[in-house]
Amino acid sequence: MSESGKRVAVFGAGYVGLVTGACFAELGHRVVVRDVVPEKIETLRRGDVPIFEPGLDELLARNRERLGFTTDVNEAIDGAEFVYVAVGTPPTYSGDADLSAVWTVIDELPAVDRRIVVCMKSTVPVGTGEKVRHRLDARGLAHVGYVSNPEFTAEGTAVRDFMEPDRIVLGAFEEADGDAVAKLHEGIDAPVVRSDVASAEMIKLAANAALMARISFINEIANVCEATGADVVKVAEGIGWDRRIGKSFLQAGIGFGGSCFPKDSLALKQLAASSGYHFQVLNAVIEVNELQKRRVIGKLKHLLGSLRGKRIALLGLAFKPNTDDTRESPAFVLAGRLLAEGADVLAWDPVAHADGLHGVVQAETVEEALADADAAVLVTAWPELLDVDWASLAARMRSAVLVDGRNMLDPEAMRAAGFRYDAIGRAAT
Ligand code: UGA
Repeated sequence: MSESGKRVAVFGAGYVGLVTGACFAELGHRVVVRDVVPEKIETLRRGDVPIFEPGLDELLARNRERLGFTTDVNEAIDGAEFVYVAVGTPPTYSGDADLSAVWTVIDELPAVDRRIVVCMKSTVPVGTGEKVRHRLDARGLAHVGYVSNPEFTAEGTAVRDFMEPDRIVLGAFEEADGDAVAKLHEGIDAPVVRSDVASAEMIKLAANAALMARISFINEIANVCEATGADVVKVAEGIGWDRRIGKSFLQAGIGFGGSCFPKDSLALKQLAASSGYHFQVLNAVIEVNELQKRRVIGKLKHLLGSLRGKRIALLGLAFKPNTDDTRESPAFVLAGRLLAEGADVLAWDPVAHADGLHGVVQAETVEEALADADAAVLVTAWPELLDVDWASLAARMRSAVLVDGRNMLDPEAMRAAGFRYDAIGRAAT
């Protein structure tokens, strides 16, 4: 342990909590990760990792002596100077964020008499910090500090995003608490944005909303490209060189999914609405995304006619490559729609599973998924799909039809391989 190593308790052993814990250990701190699920903790104690996140297993292994795992709150808090809250905040039926796991952590905090700083990593509505402050004060824990330290890590690149972030955001009630959390990040070279707590909470929601808006924007441009004969890949390249616009998050496709964007867009929409404001742009972003997930159905019908009894292969189940996460994956919406149309649905994914997708048959290989299929839909841009021998697969399909939902493959090469190939926002076959 380095001389300056601090003691950090992390509540929640999901993607965010594990990455946060492993990265703080890598920075030289002593970390205890606490979760309520005993199996998860057992797995971690054995040295296994319950999720698929590139680089996380090596990081956990390398810092083993600085990392502990427990289900016990007191064991986690014992000696801790910082308490990170990294529990889930899923949407409720109303679209608001469900903060029950956050409140459980706050209420279970033992009545320590030393100064500790509670740091909020979970994505929460603006105003949550204020409420936590009141709740701690009401428990006689006015000496416990509070800092909003939102995460901007993306699944699949979370370790790198944590260690090499574009910025660190710290919203504190007390200057000294912000200073302490800034120091905890020593070793990471990034601008630190210091703000009040509400602004830090809003920075997180606004950052995700801005990224989602870019995706829905380019998806609508793609749809207009289809109607007018332009190619959205070229259009994105052409606008992306403009430094004011930039290149990232301009990949047209079949819509965004994942554990963050869909829930955060709803949470911000509800937050605005409950505060008396109708957030028009955000509503449009959400609606465009819902429609985008379903556009492939129209394309398949155009290529195949009725989908009843047709065998359709979905290539990819994860909401994006390099993760096994299928939460809010467009693949699931697509599968549901295809089954409703009477199609037989097969799915291949190198790591994700079709659990919960009743009626979908999971194939072990791309070859198996495509054998005798009437059409394939590329749903997740898994790099493996670049190395596939498409010509031999085309020959094995009942009809060689492929809709590339991520504009991943080369249209000319796919047509040369024998496919009737369509993509998103590009000239169709
Ligand atoms: C996202 C943000 O990128 C992170 O900064 C943020 O910290 C995280 O949410 C969170 O709030 O926890 P993540 O959901 O892991 O991260 O994944 P992204 O890489 O942002 O992708 C989200 C979705 O957008 C995927 O379905 C992806 O396929 C889609 N996408 C992304 C596009 O359709 N086009 C693009 O150009 C980029």
